[in-house]
Amino acid sequence: MTIPPLPAFPPGFLWGASASAFQTEGAAGTDGKGPSGWDVFAARPGRIKDGTDGSRGTGFYDRYREDVALLAELGAGAFRFSVSWPRVVPDGSGPLNPAGLDFYDRLVDELCGHGITPAPTLYHWDTPLALEHGGGWLNRDTAFRFAEYAGAVAERLADRVPMWITLNEPAEVTLLGYALGEHAPGRRLLFDALPAAHHQLLAHGLAVGALRAAGASRIGIAVSHTPVWTAGGSEEDRFGSALYDTLSNWLFADPLLTGAYPDENFAALMPGPVAEDLKTIAAPLDWYGVNYYNPTLVGAPAPQALDTFAGFGIPPELPFGIREIDGYERTGSGWPVVPDGLRDMLVRLETRYGDRLPPLYITENGCSFEGLRDSRRIDFLDGHLRALHAAMAQGVDVRGYFTWSLTDNFEWIEGNAQRFGLVHVDYATMRRTPKDSYHWYREVIRSSQAGRPYEHPRG
Ligand code: FCB
Repeated sequence: MTIPPLPAFPPGFLWGASASAFQTEGAAGTDGKGPSGWDVFAARPGRIKDGTDGSRGTGFYDRYREDVALLAELGAGAFRFSVSWPRVVPDGSGPLNPAGLDFYDRLVDELCGHGITPAPTLYHWDTPLALEHGGGWLNRDTAFRFAEYAGAVAERLADRVPMWITLNEPAEVTLLGYALGEHAPGRRLLFDALPAAHHQLLAHGLAVGALRAAGASRIGIAVSHTPVWTAGGSEEDRFGSALYDTLSNWLFADPLLTGAYPDENFAALMPGPVAEDLKTIAAPLDWYGVNYYNPTLVGAPAPQALDTFAGFGIPPELPFGIREIDGYERTGSGWPVVPDGLRDMLVRLETRYGDRLPPLYITENGCSFEGLRDSRRIDFLDGHLRALHAAMAQGVDVRGYFTWSLTDNFEWIEGNAQRFGLVHVDYATMRRTPKDSYHWYREVIRSSQAGRPYEHPRG
């Protein structure tokens, strides 16, 4: 089969890779780092499917130079990593940990020394344990503590960091962490989890102010998006799918981009002075980050699906039912491969927000597959880059693409069993080995930067 060349992206398009602190750093108790909710959650027997606990990560804390060298060799223009909040503020409030800030200072210098833009995320799920004990994101105070921490990081790094990400995927934190209890902190509050959504949004808005006050610019956020497909044709199916669409796509994007919750009923469920808070939440953004993995098929909860839900730990009380998507290839983690979902989602965002949508970056996209000869990852990424290009041809303003992830890493409750990296990690030795997809991505970046379409080796 002939594969047509991958079109070149516009000059200046930013090519990057993403990672996060808890998934890579290890060094959980080193140099004054405080514990996070995830440290404790993952250490509880039975929580992580393969019995690992994330405490070693990929050894990034000690091996960051090796990974920066891999990024340089890749030709990456930027690296999205995250700053561990409890490494910088061990108790969640109070004194800063100088050794923690020093680590990110060294990492930023190392990246800059190789001409790679550091793009830190300030919160990628590792809440300081002391704050978690005080209610975590259910407690309004956590938002203010976050803004203080964000300002402190910017004061140290803003002279060299030209791109900032406040939060990663507040929807997943709310849904998986507080509503369903599958992630830290393991709360099962169902709709009573909504305050966690509001307080993360408030934290974001306050942090934007604190970052700017400390001299930071080019501030964005990484929000997960999934085109929601409706299963079945009944009214209940449409209701279930519309509700899921609101919860997963618009509950966060609308307040950020329009200053209002998608539905007054949601606004009414939020705590505090919501109207005032929304002004803070909608502070102008320089760009907006989209994490895309797959669409979601949703209808009313079907009685026959309830057992499956139980298997996933999803309680049947929720008034929607997530169904399997048939007819598509699946990744190693079982997620359907639907590249056009990326184009579709970007067009949906453009259609919904128009001029209010700032320039976009894809802040995560990738897949789990085993092995060094990972042609299926190449096909996955190739397909998604074509879909991205198609969205841009339809007028969506996308400025860059970060693949998830540079190296294999600790994949939350899947442990080390799901491998998303362009680079393989041998967890016994922490040895890094570039996979075929790494070499492929390097050629894609090179061709695009030279303004040439990428001629696929199998083309
Ligand atoms: C996203 C997370 C990221 C990684 C990928 C596979 O939801 O932001 O940390 O686990 O999924």
